[in-house]
Amino acid sequence: MNQKTLIAPSVLSANFLNLGADIQMINQSQADWFHVDIMDGVFVPNLSFGFPVMEALKKEAQKPLDVHLMIVEPDRYISRFVETGASHISVHAEACPHLHRSLQNIRQQGVKAGVALNPHTPNQILEHVGEELDLVILMSVNPGFGGQKFIENTLRKTENLAEWRSKHGYSFLIEIDGGVNAGNAKSLVDAGADVLVAGNFVFSSSNPSQTISELKGLF
Ligand code: DX5
Ligand code: ZN
Repeated sequence: MNQKTLIAPSVLSANFLNLGADIQMINQSQADWFHVDIMDGVFVPNLSFGFPVMEALKKEAQKPLDVHLMIVEPDRYISRFVETGASHISVHAEACPHLHRSLQNIRQQGVKAGVALNPHTPNQILEHVGEELDLVILMSVNPGFGGQKFIENTLRKTENLAEWRSKHGYSFLIEIDGGVNAGNAKSLVDAGADVLVAGNFVFSSSNPSQTISELKGLF
């Protein structure tokens, strides 16, 4: 039982022909954050959107913008994402040869710093940056696309990360990203997750706002 589980609908699955309506739906729903997926076609085999959409989100969104950078050389763009209203910025460990520096760079600009790990990347890569973390995103699909199937091993990975966090007294949040639905949400929270991203499950449902409430009601 975790009363504080946060739900972050992924804008990637919103209707771009009517993005304003979907932003308002999230504003008025029980969702906690907007999850914003930025893809560069190099780190992941897909492109999503960039600063024009971030600017639009910044104007309308009334909840924190949780920016997930699936891009190479993310340090080049941190300050622009800060300017366009990000509350959290997460970089991929696999894309950062100087991860410690990247995290410090984000925090120094007044934004919460996160690291995302691909499904095959061990939690242990974080061993020496525990103090620098506000958020860890465990990818429960291979990044690049919404609507993929949840990778079950993420449950063990979540437990392992939560144990390490508690052993050292770290305070970062654990976020699960990819294939989250009402069938796996509770076990993820029981394993130690604090934030659940939901794209396809929310936006392909007939009543997205109600689906968000259903997810919130599981905990
Ligand atoms: C995947 C993205 C996810 C995605 C989640 O590359 O990082 O945030 O939008 O979407 P669903 O919930 O549909 O798997
Ligand atoms: Zn994401």
